[in-house]
Amino acid sequence: MAGELSPIDKAKFVAARRAADYVETGMQVGLGTGSTAAWLVRCLGEMVRDDGLRIKGVPTSTRTAALARDVGIEVVSLDEARWLDLTIDGADEFDADLNLIKGGGGALLQEKIVATASDQMIVIADVTKGVDTLGHFPLPVEVIPFGWQTTKALIEEMLAAMDVLGQQTTLRMNGDAPFVTDEGNHILDLHLKRIGAARQLSMALNQIPGVVENGLFMDVCDVVVVGYGDGRVEVRDINDGTVHEDKINFVDTDNLFSDLMD
Ligand code: A5P
Repeated sequence: MAGELSPIDKAKFVAARRAADYVETGMQVGLGTGSTAAWLVRCLGEMVRDDGLRIKGVPTSTRTAALARDVGIEVVSLDEARWLDLTIDGADEFDADLNLIKGGGGALLQEKIVATASDQMIVIADVTKGVDTLGHFPLPVEVIPFGWQTTKALIEEMLAAMDVLGQQTTLRMNGDAPFVTDEGNHILDLHLKRIGAARQLSMALNQIPGVVENGLFMDVCDVVVVGYGDGRVEVRDINDGTVHEDKINFVDTDNLFSDLMD
């Protein structure tokens, strides 16, 4: 069954499978959003069903909550859990310092709150997400709907003084209507091409009235598990400064794939 997946999906899957090894019975685990995080949730569901794993999962979106319940993971709110042992999530970009751009799926606000409430954050990503400098992927910024055009203008004015290559900002759409996040907000995508001073930009964005949060995750991620289409994984740990290589055997995971393809 694994043979039917594209190389990118295989890469996402092996990263998720390897990261699932960090999860132990009794843990409260933040569950990320997106296609890579969905693999993780399925892997954990399989471990709950077949290996007796017992965890509480805190989802970062309504989509992830629905999937987690579907695969048999006990879902609790962040207010119930209060503090998490671990969050595992995808990313749109990561750099050598494991700083991230997130929010391509529109869930950056809950993702940042949940990751920040965790002892450890592990990012799972296919190798294409690794960059020298953040910014090629448009930076998502969550803004409240009230006066969003004024907020957009203030962001553009601020960008003129920042170390970025592009300054175009666009309102994310869902068909003909503005995209609406789980919190009822909109997303502005900032097409910056290259972000020279990400920390400064993140702070400046969050000073603007109307901005709820931005998709730069600075100093939040501890470990990135990078997946390759041939089953190889690289585990990069920023705290230890180590890189470990591993290989995931697709044959061992046939059950997961047959469940998925049913
Ligand atoms: C969701 O809002 C995002 O932060 C995702 O984690 C990110 O977009 C990665 O998504 P994929 O795993 O689908 O590439």
